[in-house]
Amino acid sequence: MISENFMGWESPGSALITGSSSGIGAEFARQLAQQGFDLILVARRKEKLDALSKTLQEKYSINAEVLVADLSKISDNEQVISKINEIENLDILINNAGFGILGNFLQIELMKYVDMINVHFTSPVMLCHATIPGMAKRKRGVIINTSSIFAIIKDSSLIMYTTTKSALAIFSELLNVKVKGTGIYIQALCPGFTYSEFHDTDTMNGFQRSWYNPEQWMKAEDVVSLSLDAVKSKSVIFIPGEINRQSGIINRKKKLSKYLNCDWL
Ligand SMILES: NC(=O)c1ccc[n+]([C@@H]2O[C@H](COP(=O)([O-])OP(=O)(O)OC[C@H]3O[C@@H](n4cnc5c(N)ncnc54)[C@H](OP(=O)(O)O)[C@@H]3O)[C@@H](O)[C@H]2O)c1
Repeated sequence: MISENFMGWESPGSALITGSSSGIGAEFARQLAQQGFDLILVARRKEKLDALSKTLQEKYSINAEVLVADLSKISDNEQVISKINEIENLDILINNAGFGILGNFLQIELMKYVDMINVHFTSPVMLCHATIPGMAKRKRGVIINTSSIFAIIKDSSLIMYTTTKSALAIFSELLNVKVKGTGIYIQALCPGFTYSEFHDTDTMNGFQRSWYNPEQWMKAEDVVSLSLDAVKSKSVIFIPGEINRQSGIINRKKKLSKYLNCDWL
């Protein structure tokens, strides 16, 4: 059954979601399909995208197209842009594709970091650049850039993850200034630990979820529903979950006071 959409729009248009083959991205697809949006699902694993597309089309009578793209490659991002240019009613862009790398900075192969920069930052910049003119013309649009709590708390053991996610958060904040008054809402979603496939990939080999307390983990369903609820009402930087918000605030204060050598922050 189609439920009312989170923006209260009379006729929901289309949503393009990168990294929608699993986890948070697949959950954005489910919740937006339930609200009546047509979908363009982007990631590398075609079989997963096909299965999700079939399920959502059958369940919600929406249209869900699959676009296979490796977003670490500029040429694949250009293909996504070609698709964006064809869609007349692109209401929502969710730049969500991402991955982690566990290990010491200098021991990791350099090209893995270049891929991370491209997936976490180059791709969202390219897709925002392509999407905003159409949204501004139609005077409505939502862009959610999935960043991370690490953009707030900053962790030197995850230099490139922290740096790329921080860049995405800052980009979102500044872009929001640029689109003011156009009818476009921008959010940098900054989740904490979330159950998904993120910690099971090759580049996260060795990570154990048990290193962190169960109460520090959120379900993708909750991260996504809180994110959508917050688009209209909250600031650009959105941290889902009370425990994440608290740790974000505490860590930020601790780190800033250390770097700036003052204790009043
Ligand atoms: N899980 C967490 O604890 C957590 C916390 C904070 C932020 N995040 C962020 O949330 C976002 C979603 O992650 P998740 O937790 O849902 O993990 P996930 O289940 O592993 O999903 C990651 C998605 O990104 C896609 N992706 C990765 N590399 C890609 C590439 N080169 N080209 C195209 N797509 C690519 C994957 O699809 P394919 O493999 O099919 O390409 C997959 O759909 C990421 O940006 C992540 O950094 C996650």
